[in-house]
Amino acid sequence: MIAVAIDGPAGAGKSTLARRLAKHKGFIYVDTGALYRAIGLKMIRNGVGCDDLSAVENLLANTELDIRFIDGEQVVMLDNENVNGLIRTPEVSMMASDCSALPVVRAFLLDMQRNLAKRNSVVMDGRDIGTVVLPDAKVKIFLTASAVARAERRYKELTEKGMKVDFDEVLKDIEQRDYNDSHRAIAPLKQADDAALVDTTELDLEESFELLLKTVNTLAEE
Ligand code: DC
Repeated sequence: MIAVAIDGPAGAGKSTLARRLAKHKGFIYVDTGALYRAIGLKMIRNGVGCDDLSAVENLLANTELDIRFIDGEQVVMLDNENVNGLIRTPEVSMMASDCSALPVVRAFLLDMQRNLAKRNSVVMDGRDIGTVVLPDAKVKIFLTASAVARAERRYKELTEKGMKVDFDEVLKDIEQRDYNDSHRAIAPLKQADDAALVDTTELDLEESFELLLKTVNTLAEE
């Protein structure tokens, strides 16, 4: 089994590029952020906040989370419900970021992520894949871009979907999540010592993919 770990901040193009890379390599693409989002969704639905640790523990003890792959696409099953269409809202994004700082939540998801990589060759993306989840991954990438570049892409994506959004809000949201994700005490977002940095600030999607593929192939051969 081969593991490609891709970490980086929100909006760096991780999921688009990782999905494409997985297809190119014939590996499974695992989007670990979706798992945190599913937990965030359940917490919102149940009115459980991150400050009520025993309620979070209780909620996790009564949660069945599973990942399935249908036509190569990851489907997140939360208590037997496909929640793929419900976990991309700004509200869930923020709750996912908040709850991902809790050790109980991270522990709950750790084995699941490791088991996926044990059984399959994977491209796995997240924040702590190269540092914590798969520290022995053969290929580690830290994919990033400036906050402004990431906000511009996100703004374009949302307005193209017909959503009315304010650029400064989008930028603020990205900066807030960057701060949350990289300042938490446990498994913060940071580049692993042995990860290659891929910076896509000045690159379009095609150029980013080419650079990523070249970097992955070089590391895989080492
Ligand atoms: O990649 P994403 O934006 O879908 O992730 C949602 C949140 O989950 C993100 O703010 C941080 C958290 N996360 C994490 O802490 N560790 C991961 N491996 C993946 C995501």
